[in-house]
Amino acid sequence: MPQINDHYLKLKAGYLFPEIGRRVSAFTEANPEAAKNLIRCGIGDVTEPLPEACRNAMHAAIDDLGTRKDFHGYGPEQGYAFLREAIADNQFQKINISADEIFISDGAKCDTGNILDIFGPGNKIVITDPVYPVYVDTNVMAGNTGDSDEAGNYDGLLYLPCTAENDFVPAIPTGEKIDLIYLCYPNNPTGTTISREQLTAWVAFAKENDAIILYDAAYEAFIREDGVPHSIFEIDGARDCAIEFRSFSKNAGFTGVRCAYTIIPKSLTGKTVNDERQAIHPLWSRRQSTKFNGASYPIQRGAEAVFSDAGKKQVKNLVDHYMGNADLIRETCLKAGLTVYGGINSPYVWVACPDGIDSWAMFDKMLNELNVVVTPGSGFGAAGEGYFRISAFNTKENVEEVCRRISKSLSQ
Ligand code: MLT
Repeated sequence: MPQINDHYLKLKAGYLFPEIGRRVSAFTEANPEAAKNLIRCGIGDVTEPLPEACRNAMHAAIDDLGTRKDFHGYGPEQGYAFLREAIADNQFQKINISADEIFISDGAKCDTGNILDIFGPGNKIVITDPVYPVYVDTNVMAGNTGDSDEAGNYDGLLYLPCTAENDFVPAIPTGEKIDLIYLCYPNNPTGTTISREQLTAWVAFAKENDAIILYDAAYEAFIREDGVPHSIFEIDGARDCAIEFRSFSKNAGFTGVRCAYTIIPKSLTGKTVNDERQAIHPLWSRRQSTKFNGASYPIQRGAEAVFSDAGKKQVKNLVDHYMGNADLIRETCLKAGLTVYGGINSPYVWVACPDGIDSWAMFDKMLNELNVVVTPGSGFGAAGEGYFRISAFNTKENVEEVCRRISKSLSQ
């Protein structure tokens, strides 16, 4: 009988979003009438049509595949040069990242999980709390943790609480040797940002400790305030201590289409078991060549169109649409007397549960009384307890209706 990967058995019952899905299905079955009014503001899934520029490019790419001359079979595993160059030209020219440091993939979720393939065992890993659950679960799967305690925290990971007291930016750890640090800004789930000074301090810490920051910037397009860093590579020295993950999912509506990219500077190094420095870039390249055959050609053409003049306008309209929703949600919650964070440079609004209710009880209340699906803060980690997240990814009509229900039922 084959031995299974026992580490999977350490995982908590379900990944957060399928667990929410199960609870919503149970509600829908038990309350078919109320379920007709259900509005989903749980998982951050886009609702608006794909930008026309992307659709046109994808149609044209499909037509290419219908001719022998422009047919494309297996593409480069690292992504087509046309897309890597478009990203470098449009997003990284001023911050010195070249096209061949950009790896195209089918999702930032996959990349943030798969990246552990190229790191060995025994690394000291830092996780912020609350956190996007993928970082934790993939470390459990990889055998980088022990079991979880009652609060759900896994032995072996160093959790840094992100709370209202520290503006949701974790204090830099002292006195411990750290190897890998996951940071995500604008943050999922709290919707908050990190300042340039704070990110500079993290980069300095990583350099001093020979650590690597795994920087998830999937929500950078939603930054509206000046001065908030969009990329860790805006910080001097980050080329030597950071990997950045980005996505077309949220800005251009590619959650179902699937296209993302990961930036690994050529100057980034880790160490071998013999304590020799080894560049990370060729390891990831090798990993992708072996386990991945590239995002599909029409999808990469669609992603390239994000950077056309028309694409830029259409993506901006999408971002403005979702951020208009975030404004409405924030204002409504504030008027209702709730304590609210995020939602200014992010499509997520992080709300303190009223009356000392816990996160799952608040989830149930929102589901049963308001017929609105939210995400319970504790699903993102122990420090998320007492909060819930409202996603602004929705139609204007739905968000207006959610706001009416919040004003009616939650006003204090
Ligand atoms: C979320 O709701 O946190 C995200 O949609 C999850 C994801 O991007 O995978």
